[in-house]
Amino acid sequence: MELFKGHDFVFADRKCPHALTALGYDQGSLAVGRYGDYWRALRRLCSAELFVNKRVNDAAHLRQKCVDSMIMYIEEEMAVKQATKEQGIDLSHFLFLLAFNVVGNMVLSRDLLDPKSKDGPEFYDAMNLVMEWAGKPNVADFMPWLKWLDPQGIKASMAKDMGRAMKIAEGFVKERLEERKLRGEMRTTNDFLDTLLDYEGDGKEGPHKISSQNINIIILEMFFAGSETTSSTIEWAMAELLRQPESMKKAKDEIDQVVGLNRKLEENDTENMPFLQAVVKETLRLHPPVPLLLPRNALKETKFMGFDIPKDTQVFVNAWSIGRDPDAWEDPLAFKPKRFMGSKIDCKGQNFELIPFGSGRRICIGLSLADRVLHLGLATLLYHFDWELGDGSTPKTLDMKERVGIIQRKLHPLKVIPKKRSM
Ligand code: HEM
Repeated sequence: MELFKGHDFVFADRKCPHALTALGYDQGSLAVGRYGDYWRALRRLCSAELFVNKRVNDAAHLRQKCVDSMIMYIEEEMAVKQATKEQGIDLSHFLFLLAFNVVGNMVLSRDLLDPKSKDGPEFYDAMNLVMEWAGKPNVADFMPWLKWLDPQGIKASMAKDMGRAMKIAEGFVKERLEERKLRGEMRTTNDFLDTLLDYEGDGKEGPHKISSQNINIIILEMFFAGSETTSSTIEWAMAELLRQPESMKKAKDEIDQVVGLNRKLEENDTENMPFLQAVVKETLRLHPPVPLLLPRNALKETKFMGFDIPKDTQVFVNAWSIGRDPDAWEDPLAFKPKRFMGSKIDCKGQNFELIPFGSGRRICIGLSLADRVLHLGLATLLYHFDWELGDGSTPKTLDMKERVGIIQRKLHPLKVIPKKRSM
C-alpha cells in the first residue's frame, strides 16, 4: 500500500529485462517501456480504444466464438485419443489457444488458429519461444556489466525468435494496409490494429504517429501479455478444483442452477455465480501468474519505509508472497474459495493483500478483458464436461510444482480426462 499509494509515481518506471531489449522491443513496448511521454500516450490510447468497457463488452461474441472453438478442439482431441486408446489431454494447450485467439480477434480480427491461416502455427511457435527466453533467469540482469557479453546467449536467441514473430506481425499489418487501400471508406474492420494505424496523437504529449516498427511491437505485446497469463490461471483453477472434489461439485452445481441444462452458457451468466468468482480469486491469490509483477524502477532517489532508495533501483513486488502472508490471510496455504464469499476484496488493485494484476499507474491494462475470459473459460469447461485426473494422479498426489519465469505456470502441465456431460 505504501508503494502503490504513497510512492506510485516514483516507482511507475520499469527496469526492462535484458532479453527484451532485443530488436528495440523495449522502445515500442507498453509493458516494459520507460515511464515517459510515449508510454503515457500509448497507455491512454490502449485504455480508450482497446480496453475501455464498451469495447470489451461489445466483443463478448468474439470471446464466445473462441470458447466454442476450444470446446470443439477438446472434443476432437478426445475422439482421436479414444481411437488410439490413449488417456488424458494436456489442458494447457487448449487454454492457450483460447487466450491467444481472444487476443487475435480483438487486435487483428483474426482467428490465428483457423486452419486456413498458414501463419498461425508459425506465429504461435515463435511467440512461445519468445516467452520462454523472456522468462529465463539471466545473469546479465543482475550483473549489468556483463550485458555486452550476453553470457547465456539469451538476448541473441530472443532476437532470432522475436524476429520471426515480428516478421509475421509485419505481414499482418501490410495485408491490412493493402486491404484499406483497396476498400477505401468501405472498411470491413474496426479493430485495435486500425486504431494504431489511424493514430495521429491525442493533442497531449507523445508521438503524432506510431512507427510501423512500434505497431508490430504493440501487437506482439498483446499476445505476450494476454495469452499465458490467462491460460495458466484457468489451468491452476482446474488443478485446484480437481484436488478438491467438493469445491468442484459446488462450482458445477452453481453453474447448473444459473444456466439450467438446455441452453448455452453465456458470459453474463457468470455475474450470477459468486462461488465461481471466489474460485477465480482464490486461484489468483495462490497462483498469481506474474508472481513478482513486472519489474519497477525508481525514477529518482527516494525515502521509502525508512530506507534510502537510490535512483534506478530495481524493485520487485512479490505478489505471490503477499497472497500467502499469514498476517493477511487465515490458513494461507489452503485453497478455500469460500473465504471470498460475501467478502468485498477484489483483484482490482485497491485491496493490497490481493494484487495479481498489480496496482497503481502500471496496473495490468488487460484486467477487464482477462476477468471476462477467466470466468467464461472456466465456467464453460465445468459446464460441458465432467473432469477426472489423467496420468494416474489422484487429488492427493497431483503435482502442483511451479515453473519459474516471468510467468509462473504449472511445471508439469495438467493431464485430464474430460467426459462430455449428457444434457
Ligand atoms: C490473468 C490474466 C492476467 C494477469 C494476472 C496479468 C497480470 C499483469 C501484471 C501483474 C502486470 C504488471 C502490473 C504492475 O506492474 O503493477 C501486467 C501488466 C500488463 N498487462 Fe496483464 N495480466 C493478465 C492479462 C492481460 C491481458 C489479457 C492483457 C492484454 C491483452 C494484458 C496486458 C498487459 C499490459 C499491456 C501490461 C503492461 C501495463 C503497463 O506497464 O502499463 N494482461 N499484467
